[in-house]
This record gives sequence, structure tokens and C-alpha cells, in this order.
Amino acid sequence: MYTQSFSVGDAAPALGTAAATRPIPFTGEEEARKLATFDAAIANDGRIEPQDWMPDAYRKTLVRQISQHAHSEIVGMLPEGNWISRAPSLKRKAILIAKVQDEGGHGLYLYSAAETLGTSREQMLDDLHTGRAKYSSIFNYPTLSWADVGVIGWLVDGAAIMNQIPLCRCSYGPYARAMVRVCKEESFHQRQGYESLLVMMQGTDAQRAMVQDAVNRWWWKCLAMFGPPDADSPNSALGMRWGIKRFTNDDLRQKFVDATVPQAKVLGVTLPDPDLKWNEERGHYDYGAIDWDEFWQTVNGNGPCNKERLATRVKAHADGAWVREAALAHARKQAARNAKEAA
Ligand SMILES: [Fe+2]
Ligand SMILES: [Fe+2]
Repeated sequence: MYTQSFSVGDAAPALGTAAATRPIPFTGEEEARKLATFDAAIANDGRIEPQDWMPDAYRKTLVRQISQHAHSEIVGMLPEGNWISRAPSLKRKAILIAKVQDEGGHGLYLYSAAETLGTSREQMLDDLHTGRAKYSSIFNYPTLSWADVGVIGWLVDGAAIMNQIPLCRCSYGPYARAMVRVCKEESFHQRQGYESLLVMMQGTDAQRAMVQDAVNRWWWKCLAMFGPPDADSPNSALGMRWGIKRFTNDDLRQKFVDATVPQAKVLGVTLPDPDLKWNEERGHYDYGAIDWDEFWQTVNGNGPCNKERLATRVKAHADGAWVREAALAHARKQAARNAKEAA
């Protein structure tokens, strides 16, 4: 039984204290009972809520996953935010502003969901700003042309949807509920990206070349977004048993490839993989080898934009200090006024 490894008692009391000499006959049973309730909820596809008992490792896994997800949303605002002032039309600018704003909103829901597990937002932001916390590596690459904005919508948001739809059924209630709205918005992001590429592909040769170049640069990075292969992803199995993950990294990657190849055909672009071909026997597309060295280099801080992205976030947080202070002062004033009126 996997749960046994989490049946860990509290720290032993110091020798000689009353607590150390007092018998504690029911601790083991109590622990086992809580664990059994938790296991039953997971087995019955129920939801774990903030007030429910949960194993420490489950809590830690969720805090890490949800905060990394939140960080990815807000760092993800940066590569596309760079293009707001250079969007080719008012229509595209309005769409892009809405999309980037959505990503900020996703970050806020997710920080709130993580806070229900007992970790403060200050702590999570501090972890991000000091480089202790990770975020999705895909955002450490530059957006070199306007076509990158379309390709990010189509492929990066498309990959995010594959990853995130199953999270709507995650065993932790606040995360699952936040993901319902996030997924609806991600779907809009994917469609606006694809539509903008369709328009460009009906344009000039230079526009078509720009789209193809962007696809060439982003395709492999999107495949790596699903994380290391299952064989190299030991935490994945635990996440599956806890109902946090519903599909393995490789399964999600395959779903993404299978869904994207026909879209690429309609668009008229070539996916940059000579090994990409339909496998009749498997009923799936085969694809070539992913460069995991590059992936890990970027995860570990050596991608082309890691330093720039982090510096931008840290500066934005520092520049926003007066807004947070003003909001707190306003809230205090409001509370005092309400208290006075109630008196
Ligand atoms: Fe998002
Ligand atoms: Fe998005």
C-alpha cells in the first residue's frame, strides 16, 4: 500500500517531559483512520478540500505543482506582452491584451488555490524571485516575430490545454475548480492563435515564411513541455495514484501530436520532424527524439531568456509595491468605515 510511507508520526517529545512519559495509545490508530478516509475519498474519485486531513507529501506535491503553475502563468505573460505595442492591427492588439490579461488572472486564481494549502503568497513569490521555484521552461525562449504570437497561441496554449483539461478532475477541490475557468480561457487563446496564423498563411510569401520559421522554432519545445518521458519521471506515478495527474507525460504528448498534425495540414505548415508519420499499428503518429539536454539546460537556468524573465518579474514586483500598500490602506479604511457604520 502506497499510503504506508506517509503514515509518519509527529516528532518525538523530548525525553523526560510529561509528554514523553505519557502513553499515547491511539496515535497509530488515529493516523490510520485519517489515512483510510483520505484513501477512500481518492479511490471513490472524491474531492479533498482545504479543511480535510491529507498526507504531508500530498500537500507538498500540490503546493509545488500549483505554485509552479501560477508562476508559469505570470512569467508566460512576458514573451507575448512584448508584442502588445507592435501588434499589426487594433483588432490583434485588443485580442492580445485580453489574452495576456487572462494569463495574469490564471496566476491569481492559482496562487489563491495554493494558499488554501497553508503557504503564503509572499513565500511563493519569494521562491520565484530568488530562483528556488521553477516555472514552465517554454517561456525562457524569445518571441522573434509576430508569427510567434500566433504559434504560441496555437501550440503552447494548445499543449497547456492537453495538460490542463485533466486537471479539472484533480483530486484537490480548489485546484480542480480553478482549472475549469482557466481551460475555457485557454481554449480561446488556442483558437485566436490558430486563426491569426490562418490569416497570415493566406497572405504573402514573406508572411508564410514567417509562420513556418516560428513553427520550426517552437515545435520541439512544445513537445518537451509535457515533461520528461515516463521512464524518467518517478513522481508521475505518485501523482497518478493521488488523482492529481490523470495521464502520464508520454500519453499527453502523444495526444497533443495526434491532435496537432491534422491542424498543421489545414494550416499548410510543415512540422519540423522527418520521423513524424502515422503508425497504423499503434493508431498514433510516431515522432522523433526530443533533445532532453536542451530541456534540462533551460530548466536549470541556462536558456536564452531565463535571466531576463526573472529580472523583469522581480522589477515588476518591486515597482508594484506602492499599489499593494495603497490597496491595503484602502481596505483598512473601508473596514474601519464599515465597523463605524455597524456600531
Ligand atoms: Fe493561462
Ligand atoms: Fe493561455
